[in-house]
Amino acid sequence: MSQALKLTDLTKHFGGVYALQKVNLYVNEGELVGLLGPNGSGKTTLFNCVAGFYRPDDGRVFLKGKEITGWKMEKISELGLYRTFQLPRVFPELTLLQNVLLSQSHRNESLLDVMFRKSPEAMVKRAETHIDFVGLGHLTHAPAGSLSGGQQKLLELASALMKDPEVILLDEPTGGVNPTLINEIKKMILKLNSAGKTFLIIEHNMDVIMDIAQRLYVLDYGELIAEGSSEDIRNNDRVLDAYFGR
Ligand SMILES: Nc1ncnc2c1ncn2[C@@H]1O[C@H](COP(=O)(O)OP(=O)(O)OP(=O)(O)O)[C@@H](O)[C@H]1O
Ligand SMILES: [Mg+2]
Repeated sequence: MSQALKLTDLTKHFGGVYALQKVNLYVNEGELVGLLGPNGSGKTTLFNCVAGFYRPDDGRVFLKGKEITGWKMEKISELGLYRTFQLPRVFPELTLLQNVLLSQSHRNESLLDVMFRKSPEAMVKRAETHIDFVGLGHLTHAPAGSLSGGQQKLLELASALMKDPEVILLDEPTGGVNPTLINEIKKMILKLNSAGKTFLIIEHNMDVIMDIAQRLYVLDYGELIAEGSSEDIRNNDRVLDAYFGR
């Protein structure tokens, strides 16, 4: 099986803080992998280093077998990777449709630039299809600011799908979301995974991630302390210690 994502000895520090220390991790094509760890353990930093937001201090990142260490975000995204943010980034005054279209913009491009770059009708159609897919079709023309936190997470998922990425990194997809919507988000992720999308998911909700992930990694103080199935992780002493031992 080929690897969609591979990190070798990934290291990142901020001054004296080692946010990531020689992290080795892989995600096979079509796999759904969870990334766990207490607050401040380096999970979001790992996403930032993979997606080109930060340049790692050491180590290498491979996407679909190609080394992308130090690449710019846009180039990485063109190669098929999409990441969402821990706090959804939506433009509250713009409609859902406009938000999804704008997610296609490059740096400094406006909504109009995006619309004129490619066939606008085809693009709008695709955006509508993705908004429908995440269950927000009835709100296509509503301002994004009227959505709940959970709905904003679904909107981000719709934006993610516009570029048809093969590898999707989700940073706490169910954080701050009510239980009904959590179920919707779970279903959506599983459906996309069955359709072949590869996922690496940061999630604090253990019930959710243990339920959907095929394999899990656990970070603590920037170091990988465990890897395995839900069962392995649940019974791992170092993990229990990291979460409850201090
Ligand atoms: N831009 C930055 N500048 C300085 N320190 C940073 C920066 N980003 C992260 N850190 C530090 O790196 C460490 C890891 O942070 P990170 O945000 O990756 O943790 P996390 O596992 O995502 O935590 P959470 O579960 O709270 O989201 C923390 O000590 C944090 O304070
Ligand atoms: Mg984080």
